[in-house]
Formats: sequence, C-alpha cells, structure tokens
Amino acid sequence: MQRLARSCYSILFTEYPALRDFFPAAMDAQRDRFVKAIGFTLDRLEQPGELLPFLAQLGRDHRKYGVLPEHYVAMCSSIKTAMRLSADTEIWTDEVDRAWDEGLKMISDTMVGAAEKETTPPVWGGTVLESRAVLRNLRVVRLRLDQPMRYAAGQYVSVQVPARPRMWRYLSPAIPANAEGEIEFHVRAVSGGWVSPAIIDHTAVGDQWQLGAPLGGLGVPRNPKRKLLMIGCGTGIAPLRAQLMTMAQRRANPHVHLFVGGKHPCDLYDMDALSELAVANPWLSVTPVTEQDENPWWYTESKPQENIWPGIAPRRTGAIAKVVAKTGTWADHDVQIVGSPSMVQTTKFRLMASGTQAKNIRHDPLF
Ligand SMILES: Cc1cc2nc3c(=O)[nH]c(=O)nc-3n(C[C@H](O)[C@H](O)[C@H](O)COP(=O)(O)OP(=O)(O)OC[C@H]3O[C@@H](n4cnc5c(N)ncnc54)[C@H](O)[C@@H]3O)c2cc1C
Ligand code: HEM
Repeated sequence: MQRLARSCYSILFTEYPALRDFFPAAMDAQRDRFVKAIGFTLDRLEQPGELLPFLAQLGRDHRKYGVLPEHYVAMCSSIKTAMRLSADTEIWTDEVDRAWDEGLKMISDTMVGAAEKETTPPVWGGTVLESRAVLRNLRVVRLRLDQPMRYAAGQYVSVQVPARPRMWRYLSPAIPANAEGEIEFHVRAVSGGWVSPAIIDHTAVGDQWQLGAPLGGLGVPRNPKRKLLMIGCGTGIAPLRAQLMTMAQRRANPHVHLFVGGKHPCDLYDMDALSELAVANPWLSVTPVTEQDENPWWYTESKPQENIWPGIAPRRTGAIAKVVAKTGTWADHDVQIVGSPSMVQTTKFRLMASGTQAKNIRHDPLF
C-alpha cells in the first residue's frame, strides 16, 4: 500500500506539477494517512452509513487546502493509474477498470458535494491564550477562535501551527464548543514527530493557529438508557472529558465508567478535572490505570503523586485492556476507545473476546 501511495503521488506531481505546492515537503505522514483513508474507504464500501459521513467530513475539511473539483479529477486519475500499474495485466480487466472508476467517482462526488454544500468557514483562525507545560512532553494549549466553531464534543479537528506550515495534524478539543470560541487541546510530543514536538517546544501566547472543520463520529450518546464504557489513554482523555462535560449539563445520563490510562502515574495528568466531574456527577465512575507503578527518572515534580483523588477509584496497575476486561462484563455497554492505534486495536479485540459486539464499539479512524 505504501508503495502504491508513493507511486500515486509521483504520478500526480508529474502529470499535474501545479498540485505539488499544495503539499508539505516531507510527505511521509501524508502518504501514511492517505493510504489509511483509502484502506478505511475500501473496507467500508458495503457500509455506506459509515463511509459516506466519513468522506463528507473529509471533503469539508479539504476546503482548508483550497482544493477544487478539477483537482479531484487529477487525484482520482492518479490513484487509478497507480493501481493499474501495480496490478498484473491479466487481473486488470475492463470490469475492474470500471469498478475503480465508479468507486473513485463516488469518493470524489461525496467529498466535493459535501464541500460545496458547507456554509461554515473553510478554516478558523485561533489565537493562543495560554500554553501550559503539564509534563515534559505534554502541553495544554488554550485558544480563542476568530469565530465560534460548532463541533460536537468528541469530534476532532485538523490543526496547523506557525512553526510547521502546511503540516496539518489532528487534535481533539478537550472542552465542549462554546459561544466564546474558546477551545483547548492536550498535546503530547511523539518522539521523532514533525509537528507535536514543535508544539511542545515553541507554542507561545499570541501564536496564530489554523483549524479545519470538525471531523469524527464520537459523540455524546443519544440513548440515555444504554450504559457507557469509555477508555482513554494519554491525551485520548481529551475527547472523552469534552463529552463528560457536555453530559454534566444534561438532566439525565446513563451510567458511564471511564478508564483513564497512562504508562506512568504522572501520565494521569488530568485527574483533578476528572475528580471534580466524578464528585459532581453520580452517574460517572472513574478508574485510573497505569502500566507501571513508578514515575520515569525525568519526572522531578516535588509534589508526591498521591493516587488518591475524591470520587475516583484507586489506581490499578497493568495493561489497560486487561484491567478493563477483568473489572467487569461490558457486553451491555456502548463503548468508546481513544488512544494510540495499537492501544485501540488491542482493547477492542479484548472486549470482543469477552462478548462485546463490534457494532457497540466506537473509535476514530486509526490514522
Ligand atoms: C483522530 C485523532 C485525534 C488525535 N488527537 C490528538 C490529541 O488530542 N492530542 C495529541 O497529542 N495527538 C492527537 N492525535 C495525534 C496527532 O494527530 C499526531 O499524529 C501526533 O501528534 C504525531 O504528529 P507528529 O507530526 O509529531 O508525528 P509525525 O511526523 O506525523 O510522525 C512521526 C512518527 O511517529 C509515529 N506516530 C504518529 N503518531 C503517533 C502516536 N500517537 N503514537 C505513536 N507513534 C506515532 C508515526 O507513525 C511516525 O513514524 C490525534 C490523532 C488522530 C488520528
Ligand atoms: C480521492 C480523494 C482524496 C482523499 C481520499 C484524500 C485523503 C486525504 C487524507 C486522509 C489526508 C490527511 C488528513 C487531512 O489532512 O485531512 C489528506 C491530506 C491532504 N490532501 Fe487529500 N485526499 C483526496 C484528494 C485530495 C486532492 C484532490 C487534493 C488536492 C491537491 C488533496 C490535497 C491534500 C493536502 C494538501 C493534504 C495535506 C497534506 C499534509 O498535511 O501532509 N487531497 N488527504
């Protein structure tokens, strides 16, 4: 698949050189996400209920690049040529050729159609109001948008920061949308990454960020009767706490059990906020889980990590998927999982092995 993406972009840039300027110099991350999006699409061709909203959101989000309908024609033609060149000639029959034309037309029609119908801005500007280092490799950044964005708690947005022009990355707002246009992100530096270490090292008050349209299907459950299991690791807690904050405004909620995970105890950076939510909302139970009992050598915070927070269950030690599976039976719960792709996959498989149906488990596309 990676080879295919490489070939697709080299065809695109040779045949349509003007399109090269849309993309950043380093294309590795883009190729990876593009391949995953195409894989996600191909896997769901028979599930239009899930696929079409995904493509529509992607199309609305692509407005921020200034992409025009004719660019989609160029992109689809390059994808098809790359596919054809990678396939054996006897496999690439007229029927296969037609199927690719139809599939790619469906993708671009859905993306272009959604973009053309959208009335919100293609891009929001945001001014950094506060940039707080929470851990050596984790920062909470609060911004005010130039106009409010109506995202659902649980969704994510793509973000471009001034230190890394044209390198958009997804981040999940950690608070619900509000009329003041305030928004908060929790960012962890991925070692060797292009953008996240730059956010940790260079974000300053007054910086101007750009944000694309909201994406993703996680959101506050509509059925107040079905119990909810939320599992979030690291900054994966952000879209979950945004939902919990929204639910705290409602009169009735199902019972929610939140497992919040990290590698070390210090990675449980948001326990004070979760503790406040749990104390005020009896429908919420929170269990912290860490893989290790000790903090890393570089953690020099003088305040001892107490592991005792009002309203919060005692911290458990172990792999989060195992701890969740051991703690209860979850087959009658709706489940949301947020974290690194490997954590999401492992947790999902473990829950499925103990009786939870795949259709009741939600997570974002694993880009
Ligand atoms: C739906 C969604 C929501 C997200 N929300 C947040 C958020 O709220 N806060 C946040 O900090 N991040 C979030 N991310 C991750 C974020 O979008 C970036 O992928 C991450 O910050 C790495 O970007 P980078 O440019 O530093 O690394 P890149 O230069 O893109 O990647 C460098 C290397 O690191 C690997 N890598 C990328 N991401 C990870 C990861 N998470 N864990 C381990 N290895 C990785 C890549 O495969 C690559 O090999 C979210 C991702 C998705 C898909
Ligand atoms: C077949 C239709 C297409 C699909 C499925 C697709 C998919 C994606 C995905 C998944 C991403 C990464 C996430 C994001 O930033 O939104 C992306 C980024 C991007 N896409 Fe597309 N895209 C398509 C068409 C196009 C076209 C026609 C253009 C115009 C030239 C384009 C330009 C870009 C740019 C500039 C980026 C950002 C690159 C980066 O930040 O590294 N895309 N696309």
